[in-house]
Amino acid sequence: MAMDWTPAGWRQKPAEQMPVYEDPEAVTAAEATLSRYPPLVFAGEARSLRAALGKVAAGEAFLVQGGDCAESFAEFHPDKIRDTFRVLLQMAVVLTFGAAMPVVKVGRMAGQFAKPRSAPMEQIGDVELPSYRGDIINGFEFDAETRRPDPQRLLQAYNQAAATLNLLRAFAQGGYADLHQVHRWTLGFVARSRQGERYEDLASRIDETLQFMAACGITAATTPQIRETEVYTSHEALLLPYEEALTRVDSTSGDWYDVSAHMLWIGDRTRQIDGAHVEFLRGVRNPIGIKCGPSLSADDLMRLIDILSPDNEPGRLTLISRMGAGKVDPHLPPLMARVKAEGRSVVWSCDPMHGNTVKSSTGFKTRPFDRILAEVREFFAVAHAEGVHPGGVHFELTGEDVTECTGGAQQITDEALSSRYHTACDPRLNANQALELAFLIAEKLKEERLESDRARRSAAAAE
Ligand code: PEP
Ligand code: CO
Repeated sequence: MAMDWTPAGWRQKPAEQMPVYEDPEAVTAAEATLSRYPPLVFAGEARSLRAALGKVAAGEAFLVQGGDCAESFAEFHPDKIRDTFRVLLQMAVVLTFGAAMPVVKVGRMAGQFAKPRSAPMEQIGDVELPSYRGDIINGFEFDAETRRPDPQRLLQAYNQAAATLNLLRAFAQGGYADLHQVHRWTLGFVARSRQGERYEDLASRIDETLQFMAACGITAATTPQIRETEVYTSHEALLLPYEEALTRVDSTSGDWYDVSAHMLWIGDRTRQIDGAHVEFLRGVRNPIGIKCGPSLSADDLMRLIDILSPDNEPGRLTLISRMGAGKVDPHLPPLMARVKAEGRSVVWSCDPMHGNTVKSSTGFKTRPFDRILAEVREFFAVAHAEGVHPGGVHFELTGEDVTECTGGAQQITDEALSSRYHTACDPRLNANQALELAFLIAEKLKEERLESDRARRSAAAAE
């Protein structure tokens, strides 16, 4: 792939959303240090994810991608990692059981530090400072020293990502994700809710199923999938010096991999066809995502697919629709129809978060749960009408009991937002809201499955 490509080639292209560092030599030194650090993930793991996503593209599995909008240095804590992981596990269980389909779990974790901003500068009163661009670049507090982009932060981000991944691997493979623990994954504040009750019912059914399977001789000893799971990591490949320094040749295949995460995606603001981000990602063999907002035309999408997935390998590309409720139609149908007509293998996923951000009457940046839900429904309806597999969802969520998105079964009001509004960036779903969505999606997937079973049966009967 991409013979005419080098990890530094992006430097010849216009790059949006890059910080301006005061001391370029300090940046070069930090990059040199990073380039000597060990890989965070292995090429073989990225290949496994590509194979798993290939199944999603073929309509045989479902993708759940989720985690923080932006990870933070200050809030780095094992409990936070555990709680986010737990919500992903719970969502996956609801979807696997409800939809009878394998679920591929991908965290927005262990590297999701850099944020695109709508303006490079922020003004408060008559003070103007660089915008906050994520902890890998500068700090959130509004003072000149904190907002100065600091290359040392690249190393701190790497270290935090390494420690996060280490814990995730232990959770996934060390017994925590054992299906026999399914009752224990419920977070305290979820247990007392309607979603918690629904989840407990499902967990009891899983228990019964496990007992039945054990009676048939299928146990964790014979089937390791019962005891452990696979969790992959992903982030927006925004800060290219970090990504370049962590790009290595895989000794098995001779291909380039960005070993900062299993999957990388291109944001809606940095998907310029001749831009640096597309140039960088075309050369690495990881699974790649593209955020597809309302301004993306079908022609441009096809150009991006030609550049990023020239071999049309299943699992290479995930197209993440983020149109906003009420805008999925008219924007998504022409994209889905064109990709299908041209025979491209992609995963279609729905990010119902980034097109639905509003300001609450109390001044908070929020996302009404109803609009998030509406976009998910619209996505499923369009996929159904186009005969395309609704392959996955992409959420900003946290395991904490935050009040950042209004509505949901807890009916969080504009006034209640202030009580536990913790995000430094975009508003996230809390565990209750995430589970509520998982149940809804499981129902939708079940409907799709039953319908296609019926269609198959009646076609067979007609033969
Ligand atoms: C994000 O996923 O955090 C993000 C900024 O999304 P988008 O590029 O779709 O706006
Ligand atoms: Co965000």
